Amino acid sequence: MGSPIAVIGAGYVGLTTAACFAHLGHKVTCADVVEAKVDSLQRGEIPIYEVGLEELVRAGMDNGNLSFVLGSEMAVRDAEFVYLCVPTPQAAEGSADLRYLTAAAKQIGPYLQSGTVVVNKSTVPVGSTLLVEGALGRSDTPVVSNPEFLREGSAVNDFLQPDRVVIGSDDQAAADRVASLYVDCGAPIMVTDPASAETCKFAANAFLATKLSFTNAIAAVCEAVGADVNGVLLGMGYDHRIGHEFLRPGPGWGGSCFPKDSKAIISIAEDAGYDFALMRGVIQANDEQFDRIVRKVESVTSLDGATVGVLGIAFKAGTDDTRESPAIEVMKRLLAKGAMVKAYDPAVTSLNLDGVDVVDNAYAACEGASAIVVATEWDEFTSLDFDRVSDLVAERNMIDARNLLDRDALKRRGFTYQGVGRS
Ligand code: NAD
Ligand code: UGA
Repeated sequence: MGSPIAVIGAGYVGLTTAACFAHLGHKVTCADVVEAKVDSLQRGEIPIYEVGLEELVRAGMDNGNLSFVLGSEMAVRDAEFVYLCVPTPQAAEGSADLRYLTAAAKQIGPYLQSGTVVVNKSTVPVGSTLLVEGALGRSDTPVVSNPEFLREGSAVNDFLQPDRVVIGSDDQAAADRVASLYVDCGAPIMVTDPASAETCKFAANAFLATKLSFTNAIAAVCEAVGADVNGVLLGMGYDHRIGHEFLRPGPGWGGSCFPKDSKAIISIAEDAGYDFALMRGVIQANDEQFDRIVRKVESVTSLDGATVGVLGIAFKAGTDDTRESPAIEVMKRLLAKGAMVKAYDPAVTSLNLDGVDVVDNAYAACEGASAIVVATEWDEFTSLDFDRVSDLVAERNMIDARNLLDRDALKRRGFTYQGVGRS
């Protein structure tokens, strides 16, 4: 028998949480404050690009397990669990901005039944469980930390088949109730204290970002010494302590979470008296990676007045999310050097950035370009007709910032080719 669950926030995490819990048999009401978003969800249309999510939302609506409401009051009245999935963006000084979280908790406090478990799924710093308890203004509704580890582009799969479920609570009964929601996921369920669960989320993201900055730094070393990064990383990855995953070099890491969470953990550590210098280096190396991609373009063409075709706008393939996208970081730097940019992405149709013309196919982005930059690893780019591309460009220069394309095929067509960590 499913439990009544309210999900507050219908973004990447909230919508996935709501649809997946409905799929697991629970009665889910998902609330948001944006009327247009709720309207489209009530029609079964999801406002984001996420493989498999729309089907799950529609199935949940059809079998009566999933509904959407405007505002949280109606959602939480009968709920046994309330999941807070609101944004925790970066505040000015790098720390997490908890205004949405406290506002949501204040809104729902008066309407909760006694004994309802309030679950923090947003990524929040240590102490947020207490913060939410205070904002709820209730002593009879336990608050539990249950950070989310899903990735955009594979959100549904990551939610339903997680590597682990982390639950942070000093109230064992409340933790056990949250744990019971995940028994069908077949993953290890770990119960710890709230501070450890909250820190675990930031630590995981910070570690993954570190792995990527390290990978990109090794790619730079490969370029300097004439090694091929593919062979180097393959050889490293066979060591099971290192592993093959998350070792793809690229234009730098981005997205809605790594940039803000890596700054937040520095701020959390600083507030507690620890100088997380390593993490500052990780972020600095990432900024340098954006610059390195631009220098590759500059090495083959003068940027002032040139047109550069950029393939990819999203922060990675499989999503339409452009938040903190490395593609945009590269574009901004190209524009600052006087270039004009024509950009194409299969999932992104507009971008509010002066000097960037978003076009509706890859060939249009290549037309008249003095260089092409592959910024996002969409499969579609591998099957372009490169004879046609050769005829369209002004100069045959390819900067493959995702090591996606067939380098030899491009060289045969007279392109200069620069990947990341391989020439
Ligand atoms: P998002 O911006 O996509 O969605 C948040 C939603 O919350 C928005 O639709 C917004 O309108 C809504 N909202 C804000 N205040 C509200 C309120 N008071 N009542 C109801 N709805 C409200 O954000 P997201 O990407 O889903 O991230 C949410 C949290 O999850 C963040 O803390 C983030 O760090 C964390 N997280 C995100 C991901 C990811 O892949 N995006 C993965 C793991 C964790
Ligand atoms: C990341 C984490 O992987 C999730 O576990 C976490 O829940 C989430 O952040 C979050 O807290 O929001 P996500 O941002 O969706 O997920 O994307 P990732 O797949 O981690 O990619 C992040 C960035 O790293 C992208 O720019 C991507 O292109 C880049 N990346 C990733 C690489 O350059 N190489 C890789 O091998 C992997």
